[in-house]
Amino acid sequence: MSDPLILVLDAGTTSTRAMLLGADGVLRALAQRELTQFYPQPGWVEHDAAEIWDKTLACAQDVIAKGGGVAGVAAIGITNQRETVVAWDKASGKPLHHALVWQDRRTADFCAGLKDAGHEAGVQAATGLLLDPYFSATKMRWLIDNAAPVSEAAKAGRLALGTVEDWLVFKLTGGAHLTDASNASRTLLLPLSGASWDAGLCDLFGVPQVVLGEVVDNAGHFGTTLPDLLGRAVPITGLAGDQQSATIGQGCLEPGQTKATYGTGAFVLANMGQTVPQSANRLLGTVLCQLDGKRSYALEGSVFVAGSLIKWLRDNLGLIASAAQTADLARSVPDNGGVTIVPALAGLGAPHWRPEARAVVTGMTFSTTRAHLARAALEAMAMQTLELAEAFAADGAAWTALRIDGGMSANDWMAQDLANVLQVPVERPVFVETTALGAAMLAAVGAGIHADLDSASAAMRGAVEHFEPGETEMTIRRAAWNRALAAT
Ligand code: G3P
Repeated sequence: MSDPLILVLDAGTTSTRAMLLGADGVLRALAQRELTQFYPQPGWVEHDAAEIWDKTLACAQDVIAKGGGVAGVAAIGITNQRETVVAWDKASGKPLHHALVWQDRRTADFCAGLKDAGHEAGVQAATGLLLDPYFSATKMRWLIDNAAPVSEAAKAGRLALGTVEDWLVFKLTGGAHLTDASNASRTLLLPLSGASWDAGLCDLFGVPQVVLGEVVDNAGHFGTTLPDLLGRAVPITGLAGDQQSATIGQGCLEPGQTKATYGTGAFVLANMGQTVPQSANRLLGTVLCQLDGKRSYALEGSVFVAGSLIKWLRDNLGLIASAAQTADLARSVPDNGGVTIVPALAGLGAPHWRPEARAVVTGMTFSTTRAHLARAALEAMAMQTLELAEAFAADGAAWTALRIDGGMSANDWMAQDLANVLQVPVERPVFVETTALGAAMLAAVGAGIHADLDSASAAMRGAVEHFEPGETEMTIRRAAWNRALAAT
């Protein structure tokens, strides 16, 4: 195979995509399909796992057709929205309930009960995570307790519970049930320094270990696709949760290097090397990558609402016609006109962890225009990131620069505002699909196309743009932010 291509499947929250990349990291073809979001009750968010599979497969078939056929495809890398739980029947291969999405808050009371019973410190010490509905375990338990087909399958020994990469691997291979360490580390069931699921944690959350997949590396040979699906059996050689994948795709391979992805939510990860992170400031410790059984870790700040705020302004309020318009609107006014938005539309994540919090818009008068609202929406990204920067610094992981990516990072106004507010240089790769790039790098290593992540990074990463810190009025902005935050 002269020019091996890597097929990346990026199963995100709002859309699922497939990309074909060369061993040089250059994008050859892309296909994308939007995913239906189900909101059955306030605070509940679901996906149809069958739709995730159908659309992922259709995207894969599209890019293979666009990219000249399956013969050139040497390997598959999968990256995915993390924490979202799929329950399926191992015998029929069918989902048993809608997938419970990471944004879903329905297990807030269960988490509060565990916290009241004094379990948070022990859970955090073992897993790096906090007791919040964000993570998978309480969603798994909810499905077992509340969805009859799930509990019946469990009794019959046919139940599989897993995150989205596990579901896709199962469907692609026709039966493999496995999860990579980066995704597994988001469940609350994997100790950061333990090779596999912990029996005590499984007991605490009421998730039978037998329904979970095998925990594997992020690069290796994880099975081959059923030949009929893509026209030929293709090996799956890379797997990673999307935020870990973006960290790798941004080349944050050395301790201290930090990235922020502005997608549906905003996720900041700092490489911590082989040190198991323990945050004293409400950040998360997570597995960054596991290769040959050896782990590196990241400190993470997870903010639940970023691009989804802009989507909400567009789709629910009709305030803007396109996301790109927000940059021009923000530039069209000298300041936010006193308007502050705290976008707690799915509760607040790091560093607050308040699932009950609700979004607020403060400071509006008759002179407020949609330009002020658009500007306040973009400013909220830097303010949320600033809170994380302070928590990282307090945990001894201060940022000297921030590498940004994700759909929303294309907004130049927001990128410059980040540099101004954080007072560190902000770097943005010209190719912002770093999530896909990271999965391609892992798949290339797993397939032996590149020897290790350092050489994959050297061969596959492209040029970056720089945003240098400038001035901004922080005193008023910070005070307004804190007041608005208190009202969430
Ligand atoms: O932890 C949730 C995260 O993985 C979702 O990522 O890109 O779908 O916003 P994204």
